[in-house]
Amino acid sequence: MQVPQGGADVGGAGMVLRVDVMEAALRARYGVDPVSLKESRRVIALTPGGRLLDDALAGELAAESDLTLVCGRYEGFDERILENFVTDQVSIGRYVLAGGELAAMVLADTVLRKLPGVLGKDESALEESFTEALEGGLEYPHYTRPAEWRGWMVPEVLLSGHHERIREWRRDQSRRRSLP
Ligand SMILES: C[S@@+](CC[C@H](N)C(=O)[O-])C[C@H]1O[C@@H](n2cnc3c(N)ncnc32)[C@H](O)[C@@H]1O
Repeated sequence: MQVPQGGADVGGAGMVLRVDVMEAALRARYGVDPVSLKESRRVIALTPGGRLLDDALAGELAAESDLTLVCGRYEGFDERILENFVTDQVSIGRYVLAGGELAAMVLADTVLRKLPGVLGKDESALEESFTEALEGGLEYPHYTRPAEWRGWMVPEVLLSGHHERIREWRRDQSRRRSLP
């Protein structure tokens, strides 16, 4: 089997990210022993079997001042990395990607959009699918102008300008869409 830099061959089918290589990378970046790095920040390994990323976890991570993400390729991590350098394992779904780069970008994207100033309007992130504002359910439908296009109408209530009725309609739509 070919073993590239950063790989290790200690039995098993594929190449594994080495513990000494990960330690060198973290030391070079942060200038501290990676074992103590995790005392000051969450160090998250992207793994298929980790805690499933959802809106609640994204909110939890958005409240952290610093995060470090590490990801593998091929067969994944030397287990000692997960045991000693990492505070959390996070999965973006129960399937296997070739590498954790995309998983790290998915996590970063969903966390970053919760930070103040990232979206055009901060409140845009509050009333989204899976948020508490929608009781964890799906978002209601959106419409734009024109109010009629090829006979397809925007629901009358949305044209009424009656904010309370619009709020109720949206809540109702969200609940309907969220039914199992
Ligand atoms: C081919 S996967 C390794 C799969 C591992 N051997 C297993 O069976 O669980 C290589 C890397 O991609 C990343 N990865 C793959 N699927 C992922 C997922 N669903 N969520 C998060 N990371 C994932 C992880 O960083 C992993 O170390």
